[in-house]
Amino acid sequence: MATVIGGIATSHIPSIANAIAKGLYDDPYWKPFFEGFKRARQWVAEVKPDAVVIFYNDHGLNFFLDKLPTFAIGAAPEYRHADEGWGIPIQRPFRGDPDLSWQLIEAAVGDEFDITMCQEMLVDHAFTVPMSLLFPGGDWPVRVVPVAINTVQHPLPSPSRCFRLGQSIGRAIESYNKDARVLVLGTGGLSHQLDGTRAGFINTVFDRKCLDQIVHEPKALTGYSALDLVEIAGAQGVEFLNWLAMRGALTGTVAKIHSNYHVPISNTATGLLVLENRSDGQREAA
Ligand code: DHB
Ligand code: FE
Repeated sequence: MATVIGGIATSHIPSIANAIAKGLYDDPYWKPFFEGFKRARQWVAEVKPDAVVIFYNDHGLNFFLDKLPTFAIGAAPEYRHADEGWGIPIQRPFRGDPDLSWQLIEAAVGDEFDITMCQEMLVDHAFTVPMSLLFPGGDWPVRVVPVAINTVQHPLPSPSRCFRLGQSIGRAIESYNKDARVLVLGTGGLSHQLDGTRAGFINTVFDRKCLDQIVHEPKALTGYSALDLVEIAGAQGVEFLNWLAMRGALTGTVAKIHSNYHVPISNTATGLLVLENRSDGQREAA
């Protein structure tokens, strides 16, 4: 049987990939950010996932503003990285897991989520940056299932709906009849706004509240509307929806392994959270 071994949430800023490519780990600007990942990488190496389900937002690679699914799940045998113009070095394709993908799609549609099924899909920085941070070397020792949530074209799905999508996917993983140790990622955030009159906006008070409450009181964060999140965390801070979906997928007793918060990298307040899912414990209410 498959198990959800844990979840990691992290920012996905494209310039991180350039810093990795240039080996800027000890550079004074980057050091506090990269130091935060040491424990996360160590934990991933310890728990040895064989599959990763990634909640993230596509930034215009597969879907543009003219056609933008609220929820899209990849069911491709592999996912190629397409450079969106940020100068990220091209990496090896990610190995898919169509069987697990269809398990998740069947379950999510069964739970009345309308899913766009993608048998061909490219992945952008919101996928490749967190994978590069957690699996250094670019060999990708895991199979992947991308789950893209619209955080770009309004109206956006609500925090509560994204949390429930995560719950549906967590249950689908646990009822999968093949052996798999599945790690769930949520990427983006924390607070940031890249354009408009509030460009550069960051809300450290709200970010710290999110980092804290999402561990044991995630439902306290699902009462906001998506527009509330835009106002409180910035137009792109709403990427926190991906964190909530990740947290929803942790169906067991959750233990915090590690967190890091560093402001800013580029325009963004960076957050990192590593949660272990102890499925021997009491289940959280659906
Ligand atoms: C930045 C942050 C993002 O989430 C993104 O998708 C692109 C750029 C930034 O802070 O530079
Ligand atoms: Fe982003």
